[in-house]
Amino acid sequence: MTTTTVVLREMRWWDIDPVLELERQLFPDDAWSAGMFWSELAHSRGPRATRRYVVAEDPATGRIVGYAGLAAAGDLADVQTIGVTRDHWGGGLGSELLTDLLKHATAFECAEVLLEVRVDNTRAQKLYERFGFEPIGFRRGYYQPGNVDALVMRLHVQEHVQEHVQGTETD
Ligand SMILES: CC(C)(COP(=O)(O)OP(=O)(O)OC[C@H]1O[C@@H](n2cnc3c(N)ncnc32)[C@H](O)[C@@H]1OP(=O)(O)O)[C@@H](O)C(=O)NCCC(=O)NCCS
Repeated sequence: MTTTTVVLREMRWWDIDPVLELERQLFPDDAWSAGMFWSELAHSRGPRATRRYVVAEDPATGRIVGYAGLAAAGDLADVQTIGVTRDHWGGGLGSELLTDLLKHATAFECAEVLLEVRVDNTRAQKLYERFGFEPIGFRRGYYQPGNVDALVMRLHVQEHVQEHVQGTETD
């Protein structure tokens, strides 16, 4: 784990290449294509934006060390992706990225946030549980070509915000 301070900022089209490199390292079996990121970023700006994509950048080197994305549809939001370069795991960056997405879920006025996570990805599941996500079901064979099941998790945004506010008040 490295402890360099990183800066979170909106993902832009020129980040797609370095993000893809990280994506292929983290998700070798089912990495997103450049087209998928282009298509998501096309909905990330302007008054009718429905996406939030964020990158974590090391300001000393300009290296992208993490990224995450959220899609909103009505009062539901979906965590589309989240990843942190291995040498930064365990330093709280995943939590920072997820916090950013949840703030935007609130800004998009979503009541619930859903996500899918591989059943064998206990590290990510623990991160989500810490934020109050609860398992609500499975999607069989969701991850192809490996035919791995997804655990579906849900967070009620209002509860998350209230807990966060209460937590801050008692600090
Ligand atoms: C899942 C993932 C995003 C988590 O990122 P991360 O930066 O390691 O996340 P965090 O550091 O915030 O939290 C992970 C652990 O570090 C610990 N941690 C958090 N802050 C810490 C700190 N300041 N010092 C030491 N440890 C810390 C947490 O306790 C947590 O452990 P626990 O949840 O087992 O209790 C990352 O492992 C990853 O990119 N995995 C591969 C891609 C992936 O699976 N994405 C999810 C797809 S659904």
